[in-house]
Amino acid sequence: MSFLAHAMRYDYFVVQSAATAALAHIGVWAQCSGIGKDSCASAAPPSAIPDLISVAAASPTATSAIISAPTAGPSKETGKTPALGWNSWNAYRCNISEAKVLAAANQIVSLGLKDAGYEYVNIDDCWSELTRDPVTKRIVPDPIKFPNGISSVANQVHALGLKIGIYSDAGTETCAGYPASLGFEDIDAATFSEWGIDYLKYDNCNVPKNWTDAPTPPNDDWYESNSAIRYRQMAGALATTQTTRPIQFSLCIWGEAHVWDWGAKVGHSWRMAGDSTPDWSYITSIVGRNAQNLSSIDFFSHNDMDMMEIGNGNLTIEEQRTHFAAWIFMKSPILLGTDNILSAPTVHQLGTLSKDQVAIITNPELLAFHQDTTIGTPATPFGTKGTGPPEFFAGQSAKGTHVFIINTSNNTETKSFAFDDVPGLGQEASFVVHDMWSGSDAGTFNESFSVDVAPHDTVAFLITAA
Ligand code: GAL
Repeated sequence: MSFLAHAMRYDYFVVQSAATAALAHIGVWAQCSGIGKDSCASAAPPSAIPDLISVAAASPTATSAIISAPTAGPSKETGKTPALGWNSWNAYRCNISEAKVLAAANQIVSLGLKDAGYEYVNIDDCWSELTRDPVTKRIVPDPIKFPNGISSVANQVHALGLKIGIYSDAGTETCAGYPASLGFEDIDAATFSEWGIDYLKYDNCNVPKNWTDAPTPPNDDWYESNSAIRYRQMAGALATTQTTRPIQFSLCIWGEAHVWDWGAKVGHSWRMAGDSTPDWSYITSIVGRNAQNLSSIDFFSHNDMDMMEIGNGNLTIEEQRTHFAAWIFMKSPILLGTDNILSAPTVHQLGTLSKDQVAIITNPELLAFHQDTTIGTPATPFGTKGTGPPEFFAGQSAKGTHVFIINTSNNTETKSFAFDDVPGLGQEASFVVHDMWSGSDAGTFNESFSVDVAPHDTVAFLITAA
């Protein structure tokens, strides 16, 4: 059985208080998956939610409605470098619980991930009851999955020196059919803040028809599109309610509405496509797509290539290295998404993160590039362009110039580059090439450098003048 089939089974057999009624909606989530997925619009818009498109067509009030949409940007107290952490979705889908979230938090500490820089423990979809509290209108944590509430989990995660994330959606229901925040942004932002939440993943399912985007946004500016305004409503609410802790705002908008053009004005990161899958084709397609939009990436501003699949599916160890390295050099958030984190890393067996996998996700030199606080821009392609995704990337960090090379072919290949062609390198006669994976120098070279790269593997170097 494939990983996805296994995960879907979880959804359909989960025995929780909210499960039965939720099942009807899980098909909606399933239809929304995939790299180019469209938003999952529901047919019936609730009347309480303003209809900006039709207002826009009808009267000058429309312009003021659009202009009056919040313009608050994301907090500068969090999210300068891309998030590092864990998220429940790829591991558990809807079958989550306090015990699983806390076990993951404890493993982040015991596996040395916290020391390596991982800090977020993020709860994804399906954490709540199916209806809001009828009086307060607040979202209510599922009492079976989270018997002590979310704030208790937050306290325990904070006590470990980690941060906690939660999930909602800029529509009428989450992708799995739970209450979502469109029209309830102030209440929900205040609730999350009160619970001690540090990170909000904000999804894009069940958008009422009157909130979908026109083919061209007002003034040709996607920041004024209905999609952007749905996200801006929550950004505005977060800006006024995050009194105790800054909340990192992650726009799970699947690469829609030209989000890379305006995402940094609203949140800290934004998904570039549909959901990740644990296979090589996902890795190459998202690298190729992201490579076309790297100019939006800098401090507080990150293209999100979706969660890690290391530990899931049948990716080879080389493919897992490429998965991690590409997310590193493109400065994507890195959120681990396996329950294998719950097992000891010392024995390599099914259902266990191996020592090699832990070594990949804790590699100090790659993580230092990702978390560099001096230079926020990613590595970008250089050299000749083939037909597939680019293979040669170069970027800067506080330490100097780095080169990353992906071998996208199915055979071991010798990859070569001339130092002259690497952006950022001076005209020195010779260079020291340092292997970031092993932490050792490959040697000193003149003019050019060649290396054999295994199929689907990625090599990573720091290059400095000799
Ligand atoms: C999808 C989202 C996934 C996950 C899921 C939950 O839209 O892309 O990452 O959050 O919803 O239902």
